[in-house]
Amino acid sequence: MTVGARIAVIGGGYVGLPTAGVLAQFGHTVVCAERDEARFRALAEGRVPIVEDGLADLIAEVVAKGTLRFVRRAADAVRGAEFVFLCVATPEGDGGAADVTFVEDVATEIAGALDPGAIVVNKSTVPVGTAAAVERITGVTAVSNPEFLREGTAVRDSLHPDRVVVGADDLRAAQRVGELFSETGAPLIVTDKITAETIKYASNAFLATKLSFVNALAGLCESVGADIRDVVLGLGYDRRIGFDFLRPGPGWGGSCLPKDAAALVRIAEDAGYDFTLLRAAIDVNDESRERVVRKVVDAAGGRLSGRTVGVWGLAFKAGTDDRRMSPAVAIARRLVELGATVRAYDPTVPTGPGTVDLEGMVLCADPYDASRGAHAVALLTEWDELRDLDFSKVADLMASPTLVDARNLLDPDALRRAGFSYAGVGRS
Ligand code: UDX
Repeated sequence: MTVGARIAVIGGGYVGLPTAGVLAQFGHTVVCAERDEARFRALAEGRVPIVEDGLADLIAEVVAKGTLRFVRRAADAVRGAEFVFLCVATPEGDGGAADVTFVEDVATEIAGALDPGAIVVNKSTVPVGTAAAVERITGVTAVSNPEFLREGTAVRDSLHPDRVVVGADDLRAAQRVGELFSETGAPLIVTDKITAETIKYASNAFLATKLSFVNALAGLCESVGADIRDVVLGLGYDRRIGFDFLRPGPGWGGSCLPKDAAALVRIAEDAGYDFTLLRAAIDVNDESRERVVRKVVDAAGGRLSGRTVGVWGLAFKAGTDDRRMSPAVAIARRLVELGATVRAYDPTVPTGPGTVDLEGMVLCADPYDASRGAHAVALLTEWDELRDLDFSKVADLMASPTLVDARNLLDPDALRRAGFSYAGVGRS
């Protein structure tokens, strides 16, 4: 096992921070570079600027131990490092292709400061062939080591991954990177760079397709009068299918699944393969959001202009403050567009003037305030705290007590007793 390796992590975000924290926890010496001034200042002062379970404690622990510190410039982080992990964003660019500008910029920035024997490790999800490009830019060995962490459980996922994938031309380099994670005890898959990059897209494309499948089934259940919850029970016990990623909802979102699905369609297209299955999964996802919007319109009496809608939840899923590609935000924006006054609440969103993605919404301090005067409430993110509200109080606050539960979080019978009319997903 490699203990005490010198590691640089470039990017202190949703991927970089858990990666840096966990590597430091394993006993390596880690320097993490974060170029955003506000984020860097927060980290240097011991604050973790994102909502992520267990992350603040982990970072505090390794900073106190002296195995993790933060710098602003990537070039400063990489000096003397044996391994350099690139954990920068690869946002969706034109036509669905992933924009690798940040990866290339960092590679260019660090090229002159790298030790000739350093290994650059790509953690970011990047188009097939990017590790080879990083190798060309930096002049050192580049390795693909995709992350599979989920936001909200990133620390746990990084400490106990299902597998570690390392792709490289140089087998020894791949093994050395794999050894950095030997403490996880996870199976190690060593392969070439292009295959490792493909594995990452394949995983996210499969998850996206599985989710679209269950959301499409929910639509079918509504049409034929079946109950999706029991359908999922019947499916999930089949070990070949399993229960994971079978919760129907308002569609999948977040910073990975939508972007990676679009990117893989594009990668396939550029290589001459038409990935119809994945294109269909994306279409079903758009349709899943639209189905929720239609339910809200119905719940509010057939139109939204002049009506108030309460929105519970804006994050793309519970347990994170991330709203990138959030179906909840997309739906709330659509409600505003259709003329509704949207009163929105999310435990991670402060009241007051919101950021641009929340323009036109009234941001409320709690779910009760969000339901004040509402003709319908839409529950869009599965926050636990929404389970235990005083629903009679909510009903009293609303203009007409109707609830669209896009996550099937609540008990319809209890709500009906509290005076609500209730619409869930995939159940009549
Ligand atoms: C995902 C992958 O899980 C992870 O392996 C990859 O590295 C990054 O992308 P993440 O984006 O953090 O992780 O979220 P995830 O928990 O996978 O959820 C994705 C979306 O699917 C969310 O919008 C979530 O609400 C939705 N979802 C998930 C469901 O609607 N139902 C489910 O059963 C599971």
